[in-house]
Amino acid sequence: MTDLSVRLQQVRARMDELLPAAVQQLQSRDPRLADAMVYGLLNGGKRLRPVLALAAAEAVGGSAVAAETAAVAMEMIHSYSLIHDDLPAMDDDDLRRGKPTTHIAFDEATAILAGDGLLTGAFEVLLADDSLQPQQALAISRVLAQAAGAAGMVGGQSIDLGHVGKAMTLAELEYMHRGKTGALIRASVQMGAMAACWPLSEQQQQALTAYADAIGLAFQVQDDILDVEGDTATLGKQAGADLALNKPTYPALLGMDQARAKAAELVAQAHAALQPLQAQGGEIGLLQQIADYVIERDH
Ligand code: IPE
Ligand code: IPE
Ligand code: MG
Ligand code: MG
Ligand code: MG
Repeated sequence: MTDLSVRLQQVRARMDELLPAAVQQLQSRDPRLADAMVYGLLNGGKRLRPVLALAAAEAVGGSAVAAETAAVAMEMIHSYSLIHDDLPAMDDDDLRRGKPTTHIAFDEATAILAGDGLLTGAFEVLLADDSLQPQQALAISRVLAQAAGAAGMVGGQSIDLGHVGKAMTLAELEYMHRGKTGALIRASVQMGAMAACWPLSEQQQQALTAYADAIGLAFQVQDDILDVEGDTATLGKQAGADLALNKPTYPALLGMDQARAKAAELVAQAHAALQPLQAQGGEIGLLQQIADYVIERDH
């Protein structure tokens, strides 16, 4: 079983090759726009979503290489979501992945357009992958569209920004988190598996979705915890940003101990969800390690 940190390093190096190549493939009319897109993609992300896609491919008995385009498309969407999340009209952050945010390094209009270019470009890259069967590419694109859009990330971001300084119930908070963060994490797992094994069985889909839903929520709970407990240098983004904006978060609503307990409970659920895949002979080691990493990480 490969150690997760080694695997993450390999995936990061591979993504650093594939992501600029993907932007080049998009043939931007404006070189400065392409520079901003590459800047937003390359400034040191953990690459959790790509590694999840590759790990899911292995968990259904497929090859990680088959999931690489899905991983690239997902990281393009994720990076676009961060570029826009940091804009003055949204969270107004000037530090991301240890570097000035895209609108600081370039300008606001360029950051908006870089996000737009990555969002549309993700689908272009996915649909240009000839190794996928047409029905398979369509199904993967649809999963990505639903997760990125109003029913998923964009919808969750809208609820987030609509509730700054307002009270939220725990159920509302969970609903928001499952959208703004959980949806792309779930889609990473689904897309990686769909790219490597087509079509998936009902049982495979159920197990992967239950796993991904649990770690997706745990990931944002930990993000909220780190906003309180982390330091800016380690996080690579401004600590205390949620508190400064009076954002609804798990620690704000539940307190730190209960937030931590919630995250741990979700990780246990994720492990349990993988059992049916192991029973079918799937290689689930990496998905197991990722589940633990989601709440052990310090940035
Ligand atoms: C940050 O995501 C935004 C959330 C959804 C919480 P990551 O913590 O995965 O950010 P990078 O890609 O590693 O910078
Ligand atoms: C962002 O949530 C989720 C996205 C869809 C980008 P946050 O606003 O908490 O993410 P950070 O803390 O800025 O990375
Ligand atoms: Mg935000
Ligand atoms: Mg933010
Ligand atoms: Mg946050």
